[in-house]
Amino acid sequence: MPHDPNNVVHVNPEEPQPGVIKRAAEVLRCGGLVAFPTETVYGLGAHALDANAVRKIFVVKERPEWDPLIVHVADIAMAETLVTSAPPVFHELAKKFWPGPLTLVVHKAAHVPNEVTAGRDTIALRQPHHPVAAALLAEAQLPIAAPSANRFGRPSPTRAQHVLEDLGNRVDLILDAGPTPLGVESTVLDLTQSPPAILRPGGISREQLETVLGPVTIAKSVADQVGVKGLRGPGMTAKHYAPRATVELFEGKPTDMAQQMASRAIALQQQGKKVGAIVSEEMRGAVEPCARFVACFGAWGDWDSMARKLFGTLRVLDSQGVDVILCPLPPAEGLALALRDRLQRAAGKSLER
Ligand code: TXA
Ligand code: MG
Repeated sequence: MPHDPNNVVHVNPEEPQPGVIKRAAEVLRCGGLVAFPTETVYGLGAHALDANAVRKIFVVKERPEWDPLIVHVADIAMAETLVTSAPPVFHELAKKFWPGPLTLVVHKAAHVPNEVTAGRDTIALRQPHHPVAAALLAEAQLPIAAPSANRFGRPSPTRAQHVLEDLGNRVDLILDAGPTPLGVESTVLDLTQSPPAILRPGGISREQLETVLGPVTIAKSVADQVGVKGLRGPGMTAKHYAPRATVELFEGKPTDMAQQMASRAIALQQQGKKVGAIVSEEMRGAVEPCARFVACFGAWGDWDSMARKLFGTLRVLDSQGVDVILCPLPPAEGLALALRDRLQRAAGKSLER
């Protein structure tokens, strides 16, 4: 078995070893970068109030400087030190959904560095649920700025191995606690608009938010705009979550999608293309004989399973060098909405060509 590089440390996902957490907190205090698991995906963390440390995140990820970061907090009290005039609904939502996969955008306090918020006067905050992230925040007693720990434009990392592939030894420490439980990122909810708007669907569903807020709007994603209007041009890149291959999406009943995917796979292979497919259990029989690489995620409707596997599967299909990835598109409800959004963005890349 190959040895782990010396910046990777294994940590128990349920009961993180205090020695490991202390070491990671020390790296953050000294202005270093620590990749750590959250319940959604791995994050690339830096001391949020240390502008130099935060700048390193952008360099290491090759992230454009206009894209602001999420700040992770130990609790609501820590969040309150970073905001001005948070509306009452901020507390209501934080009490109900934190710790958890909900990021709240509110007006920032003056001492939060511009680097974190990309010059905006708002800040995105979330208290993560994962025991390793929680232990790190409790030990460091610092807000931790952390985007997903992938290279910009690659699918988010759901395993420490993905972080290593993308960022390698450019990170001071990678805490490896195995696969992340949820597999898609948090929901980003903008509370500075009225009514609040979902900027990115994620782990907390629109329906869950509506139990507290009443109707919530969804900001039209770049991918939707490209898909619906056929728009092109700079700023329309939808490059997040994009695998190297072209992604083609199918919509309808599982049996119909399976048939369409199978015939499309045959047609593409006849053109000499290497075809990968992501299927549900019930599509497997029809698609497997027709495509080179088929990844299966469980029954249609088992969105938890699809969420856990989606980003890792996109990486595997990429590494196998497929030209096209065929995938069924989940419906716009519950956790499926987040999967739908990520797949539409992944497919958006092909519309740019
Ligand atoms: O689950 C997650 O949210 C993961 C884990 C590590 O917490 N983090 C994550 O971060 O996905 P990132 O940087 O990959 O995505 C953060 C999203 C971006 O789309 C960014 O534009 C948005 O949040 N965002 C951050 N600050 C914002 C702000 N002030 N206003 C509007 N959007 C903001
Ligand atoms: Mg990201």
